[in-house]
Amino acid sequence: MGYHTNPFPEPKGRPSMGKQQNALAVVNYKGGVGKTTATFFLGAQLAVDHPRSKVLIIDIDAQCSLTTVFGLDPVRESQLGRNIFRLVQPGKPLPDKAKRDLYLRNQRGSRGFPENLYLLPGSFETEDLDVKLAKEDARGTAGFFARCAQVLGLFDDFGAILIDCPPNKMFLTQGMLQAAGHYLVVVIPDKVSVYGVPRLIRWVGEIPFPERPLLAGCLVNRVIRSPSGITQEQMRWVSQLEATLADRDLVGRNRGILGQWPNSNKVCATYGMGRHVRFHLPATFPRRDGPLHGLHLGPNGEAP
Ligand SMILES: Nc1ncnc2c1ncn2[C@@H]1O[C@H](COP(=O)(O)OP(=O)(O)OP(=O)(O)O)[C@@H](O)[C@H]1O
Ligand SMILES: [Mg+2]
Repeated sequence: MGYHTNPFPEPKGRPSMGKQQNALAVVNYKGGVGKTTATFFLGAQLAVDHPRSKVLIIDIDAQCSLTTVFGLDPVRESQLGRNIFRLVQPGKPLPDKAKRDLYLRNQRGSRGFPENLYLLPGSFETEDLDVKLAKEDARGTAGFFARCAQVLGLFDDFGAILIDCPPNKMFLTQGMLQAAGHYLVVVIPDKVSVYGVPRLIRWVGEIPFPERPLLAGCLVNRVIRSPSGITQEQMRWVSQLEATLADRDLVGRNRGILGQWPNSNKVCATYGMGRHVRFHLPATFPRRDGPLHGLHLGPNGEAP
């Protein structure tokens, strides 16, 4: 397979207004596959690779795992009220750009965190959003989706925005998928996880075209390597996944599997794990309207 370093081509006729091309939603409604881990490590890696740009990771999961991984106490963050819930909450005014930084957290280089990596914390309250939105009519939900796009728009000068989605199909997940230019599916090479991918892609495919994010590809997580390489069983599921992705409308010319991350508690201790999937951004990165580019990888996830 050859690599190319061109920016992602945008499909003809696709309006870019309202969609954040620098945003990537990390999704799978199957739980525990590594979405949060991937969001954090990829975000950290992007920040390290592009020290002059700002990278934002957003926790939209009511479990607040990403907020915890970022070294914060989700209870306190939820109480502070400067979080994703406050920004997307219907009926509340959206802060202007001058105030948006109040909602972000940064570890200022402590604990080895990149200084240019920012978190928009999660909130336990996002769970209640669906109860409220379920009572709304189509106009109400459309308004909520538009609000999600406005929230991402507050950060359009960031080089990249990675959104850690919860394992559900709820309104906030839908809203962020509609607002983001791209999505990445995290999958474990086993039967249950791989069988779910076509359904997941079909579900995203139901989003009307102008708002539909482009599939960046899949990240295969928790690959068990024996001394002789990936196990036969897992290899089978990786091949199955490749077959599933073969006829998909993927961004760029990748084969759909962007990288394979090993199953290892050690790798989670350092964000070097992000190096297994590389985002190639254009020389002009960041641009205000710059799309998130790249994801061109070798078969084992190495950079070209
Ligand atoms: N490659 C890996 N090797 C070992 N452990 C991993 C790996 N990736 C993730 N884990 C662990 O698996 C657990 C689930 O990971 P994570 O929270 O990232 O999944 P998730 O998809 O975000 O889950 P949820 O659907 O609940 O949001 C965590 O304890 C994490 O540390
Ligand atoms: Mg998670």
